[in-house]
Amino acid sequence: MSEAKTTVDMDTIASLCKRRGFIFQSSEIYGGVSGSWDYGPFGVELKRNIKNVWWRDNVQRRDDIIGLDAGILMHSRVWEASGHIEGFTDPLVDCKNCKKRFRADHVVDGRCPECGGELTEPRMFNLMLKTFLGPVEDEASLTYLRPETAQGMFVNFANVVDVSRKKLPFGIAQIGKAFRNEITPRNFTFRTREFEQMEIEYFVKPGTDEEWHERWVEERFEWYIQYGMRREYLRLRQHEGEELAHYAKATYDIEYLFPFGWAELEGISNRTDFDLRQHTLHSGREFTCFDEDTEEHIVPYIIEPSGGVDRAALAFLADAYHEEKVRKRKRVVLRFHPDLAPIKVAVFPLLRNRPELVALAKEIASDLRPHMMTMYDDTASIGRLYRRQDEIGTPFCITVDVETLEDNAVTIRDRDSMEQMRVPVPEVKDTLLEKLGRG
Ligand code: GAP
Repeated sequence: MSEAKTTVDMDTIASLCKRRGFIFQSSEIYGGVSGSWDYGPFGVELKRNIKNVWWRDNVQRRDDIIGLDAGILMHSRVWEASGHIEGFTDPLVDCKNCKKRFRADHVVDGRCPECGGELTEPRMFNLMLKTFLGPVEDEASLTYLRPETAQGMFVNFANVVDVSRKKLPFGIAQIGKAFRNEITPRNFTFRTREFEQMEIEYFVKPGTDEEWHERWVEERFEWYIQYGMRREYLRLRQHEGEELAHYAKATYDIEYLFPFGWAELEGISNRTDFDLRQHTLHSGREFTCFDEDTEEHIVPYIIEPSGGVDRAALAFLADAYHEEKVRKRKRVVLRFHPDLAPIKVAVFPLLRNRPELVALAKEIASDLRPHMMTMYDDTASIGRLYRRQDEIGTPFCITVDVETLEDNAVTIRDRDSMEQMRVPVPEVKDTLLEKLGRG
């Protein structure tokens, strides 16, 4: 990893996430479990928003990509065919002194990173999480929690072609959970044992694969910028030599400058015809498309943009984080793109002991709820309420004050500029929708 640094550190992000209800440690009351995290009220909204814009941009707005939602549990032979039983491994070393276990490629000087003890020779460790289907725990019932969503799209290739009548090039998209028994889960939600992927398998004519690969790399890179990520915090890195996965001819990682350094956000691979041919070999089924130019049945090549929802959420959180001085006080604000912000608008009464202000604020909030994620709050002073919303990245706050009772207008405050404008109550909804880019 590079020495480059962002202005915010990981502890600050993790503590904001806990304090404000984005992300909690899994099973915290029992001491926590490593590599699994729970998304709180605002984290779940952020994640849903990321998945929604991804689906909207890649499935809803395109004619050439269709969706799928395959099971997490699959036949164990899928993982034989895919090469994961054989090849989805990390080299591990054990410390002969403290007995701790490390990834061999994470050890710098050949000694134990914890106690400096002598290490064993590396042994290969499979990253798939095992489980058993049915009441008997034997070889026949053994299977794995999927380590990538991709295989569900390959094994359904013929079904999807049959029902959709799609011609090359076309894609299948899927969002879902994946599991890996990572040896060293680390950096908050960056490397976990349970995570979500957003994957596209894009099927193309062999010979056009390299051109499509380039197009997808560019398109996916720009996607993150479109939703507000700083261009200078993103870079591309090509995999070299042994780093290439067993199925890939070429892979580019989109890397983000996380608070702990540059690291992978999304990988875009040229998987060639490896997977479809492997499944033909193991299942006896044909996975071909009819090529009208050559009038032949061909096995397509696959370009695969594969991103993690949790990593995207972490990167969007870190990127949105800003600290500034306002009237000599620190203001923390998450400058989320409006499509990603968990809450779009918060409504407050200026005085919570004035029932008519409270009633009106509640009424405005309930009128807005069908149109956008809205929050009503009267549990603190107005300054505190603004600060809370800044910290969860709410683009707009509405205050109902005493004047509202006279002029039927409210104050809308902009998160980023902190400017306030007076808007008549009947115009509030349309004003907000327009400002949120949904007008
Ligand atoms: N189907 C291809 C594939 O799974 P990958 O590079 O191993 O490729 C794709 O994973 C993406 O999934 C990564 O770019 C990352 O965003 C996410 N991902 C992978 N392992 C992860 C982990 N242990 N924790 C969180 N996200 C992970």
